[in-house]
Amino acid sequence: MSTLFSPLRVRSLELPNRIVMSPMTRQHSPGGVPGADVAAYYRRRAAGGTGLIVTEGVAIDHPSAVDSPAVPRLHGDAALAGWRHVVDEVHAAGGRIVPQLWHVGPLWGAMADVDPDVVPMRPSGLWGRPGVTVYPQDYLDASATPTAAMTDADLDAVVAAYVRSARNAVAAGFDGIAIHAGHGYLLDAFLWAETNRRDDQWGGDLERRTRFPAAVVRAIRREIGDELPIFYRFSQHKQQDFGARVADTPEELGVILRALADAGVDVFDASCRRFDQPAFDGSPLTLAGWAKELTGAISMAVGSVGLTKPTREDRVVESAPIDNVHRLLDSGEIDLIAIGRLHLADPALASTLRRGAVPAFDRAVHEGRLH
Ligand SMILES: Cc1cc2nc3c(=O)[nH]c(=O)nc-3n(C[C@H](O)[C@H](O)[C@H](O)COP(=O)(O)O)c2cc1C
Repeated sequence: MSTLFSPLRVRSLELPNRIVMSPMTRQHSPGGVPGADVAAYYRRRAAGGTGLIVTEGVAIDHPSAVDSPAVPRLHGDAALAGWRHVVDEVHAAGGRIVPQLWHVGPLWGAMADVDPDVVPMRPSGLWGRPGVTVYPQDYLDASATPTAAMTDADLDAVVAAYVRSARNAVAAGFDGIAIHAGHGYLLDAFLWAETNRRDDQWGGDLERRTRFPAAVVRAIRREIGDELPIFYRFSQHKQQDFGARVADTPEELGVILRALADAGVDVFDASCRRFDQPAFDGSPLTLAGWAKELTGAISMAVGSVGLTKPTREDRVVESAPIDNVHRLLDSGEIDLIAIGRLHLADPALASTLRRGAVPAFDRAVHEGRLH
């Protein structure tokens, strides 16, 4: 049997296979409250055999965490009752689920018209230099104006919000915590030199730029104890610039990831556009492969698994074959594979892959609705 269908233990969490549903924002939770349709959507993936579900990004309990009112929250009685129902449904179908804790940081305002009185949380008041990005010009123009840099009180409030939301997640019955620290959002904005120009203890060289994300991880670990796993998503690319990088060499990546592993991360979720591409010149190792090599932690790859055709008319995605998933898992380069869009196409994706088949993804059909 291939490694894809072999079990894996992460702290107290027993995964029956290596297939993870990648976090995907759906904006189907009016007022931040996930309803019965959201519970049924996740339950179908659990029933379909997916080893672990990472929820869509969920706003932490901070006023500037997420702008869209249809993104779920992890605070307030109604939202927490909604999540309790989601978790119960997933567990009843034999699945496991962790929430992805999200603070958009500099990217406040990208999803919705927002309250002009809310100050976005930006390490140095900067949005970042736009490069290859899908954001429209009017949003880029509006975001280019610097805002206030985060104060010490802001930093404390954000850490406290992560801790409260982690506590709420545990109380709702989730099986661990996932942290969204990639794609240019708040925690990633501390790592990226374009958005972190601070000259206090939270800025400077890479070691110092990693301190705030590590402080968040440490605070969450202290709150949830030793039983439950922490998953940490990181990326080179940013929503502000798909070509951006935080680590130019494996040595630089090691500085970041070792500090995070020391703080309490169990699983590194290396977000890439193509999961099977080399991360640095001179080695075939993928970004997830490097995460494991540098830290010894469990490593998860993601990016275009099984996609065989363009997902947008203007963008060609090369095929990223399932064979490469097997190759990287069987060789031990990676431990888990997260899959996003194919999970939208096929709720029973894990069962489909077990049969040796691969579903087709059609953006127009699969991305908009919850099914
Ligand atoms: C509709 C959609 C929403 C997404 N929302 C999130 C999100 O909330 N958090 C996150 O970390 N990544 C998000 N992503 C990225 C996915 O988790 C995944 O990394 C990406 O789609 C590549 O994997 P895939 O090619 O298997 O879809 C989203 C992707 C899609 C398509």
